[in-house]
Amino acid sequence: MDRMVTLAHKFLEDVLSFGDTAVDLTAGGGRDTLFLAERTGRQGKVFAFDIQREAIVRTQSLLTGKGFRAISHWEEGSILPESGIFLVNDGHERIRSYVREKVKGVIANLGYLPSGDRSIVTRAETTLQSLRETLPLLVSGGRLAVIAYVRHQGGRREAEEISGFFGGLPSNCWHTIKMEMLNRENAPFLLMAEKT
Ligand SMILES: C[S@@+](CC[C@H](N)C(=O)[O-])C[C@H]1O[C@@H](n2cnc3c(N)ncnc32)[C@H](O)[C@@H]1O
Repeated sequence: MDRMVTLAHKFLEDVLSFGDTAVDLTAGGGRDTLFLAERTGRQGKVFAFDIQREAIVRTQSLLTGKGFRAISHWEEGSILPESGIFLVNDGHERIRSYVREKVKGVIANLGYLPSGDRSIVTRAETTLQSLRETLPLLVSGGRLAVIAYVRHQGGRREAEEISGFFGGLPSNCWHTIKMEMLNRENAPFLLMAEKT
């Protein structure tokens, strides 16, 4: 229960099926991208974003090791295949430049790349922008999970602003839940939204 990532995966697992489209807003080491790829299968489509080339390379390598083929280079403006895993070396706030289809599940694991440069972190402004751009892409019954961290610089502000954003979503269109540990200081927390 102390692993918010595991809880986020369980939340998404309930709605993801083979053939769905899913998005990882922060590819990092690739574990969440791998999870989405496993849940959506060969007929599915996964987009994973990261501003760091190192994260894209790590994600590519993890996927390859697990028998998945991911595409990380394509001509701008070209029509992408109907299925596959697409690694985007760009900010998640630009999601609408890449993802045109409706999406069933989205994950955003915020903060810095583990064992990477800790000065490169997700930021309140761009994270909020990416969430505003992403929500309209979700199908009815689609789900979004965000894991927010407060320990790194700017983390608390980002976490509080996103929490406020989830709290402000209209209740006739969205169910939102916050899951947090009550007996541990500065623990990460999980924000979840489902489109009605
Ligand atoms: C905690 S890591 C993600 C962990 C990852 N999902 C995994 O399974 O290993 C956060 C990542 O967000 C990335 N990031 C920071 N700002 C970003 C942005 N604007 N758009 C996309 N990725 C961003 C960082 O480079 C870092 O790799």
